[in-house]
Amino acid sequence: MAKRPGSNRWLRRQQRDLYVRQAQQSHYRSRAVYKLIEIDQRDRLFHKGQTVIDLGAAPGSWSQYANEQVGGQGRVVAVDILPMEPVDNVLFIQGDFSERTVHDQCLQALNGRNAGLVISDLAPNLSGIRATDQARSMALADLAKELAVQVLRPGGDMLIKVFQGEGVTDLRRDLQEHFQKVVTRKPGASRDSSREFYILARSYEI
Ligand SMILES: C[S@@+](CC[C@H](N)C(=O)[O-])C[C@H]1O[C@@H](n2cnc3c(N)ncnc32)[C@H](O)[C@@H]1O
Repeated sequence: MAKRPGSNRWLRRQQRDLYVRQAQQSHYRSRAVYKLIEIDQRDRLFHKGQTVIDLGAAPGSWSQYANEQVGGQGRVVAVDILPMEPVDNVLFIQGDFSERTVHDQCLQALNGRNAGLVISDLAPNLSGIRATDQARSMALADLAKELAVQVLRPGGDMLIKVFQGEGVTDLRRDLQEHFQKVVTRKPGASRDSSREFYILARSYEI
């Protein structure tokens, strides 16, 4: 991730940030939730009873929100390389998503069921070398797309974080081959200074 937690500038910006304060006053673990909420309010991603896969889930605010939206009949499978405090009704897999075994663990967790939605907020640790960071981020996005096309039910959706740069156009083109509609979203909680935005691919077609 771009920021360096602990640095003075990062700390001051966090304290000023409206979304950080909002998250601190709510039960959500991260300001990242407001990006998902804004997209969901516009695009209605979640349904009761849905199965959702949340990639790059720690510290867990997207999983918290997803669980609230799918309700007790739904199921959320979350993956992160970092540990994550448990979230009710969320099955957490800790591991590196670029490893085949972790991909396979996701499939096992679904136990033959299809997912209705795959959300990916995966963001690699930044090296500071832009081309390397972009390549790592796109590699994760590609893996997320590969899992999605394997597990989504027809009509299912995918939301995926990307950073503007090399590879994004190819990913979009690729998604257009599998989904009826592909749009981009830059929620208000996503900092203007960040190259981050989201691709929303709707209605998976086999
Ligand atoms: C922006 S954070 C996700 C925030 C989360 N959506 C939330 O609401 O709390 C990105 C996450 O991607 C995870 N990540 C990065 N590379 C990964 C990998 N190879 N495998 C699994 N998780 C990874 C990071 O550990 C980090 O927790």
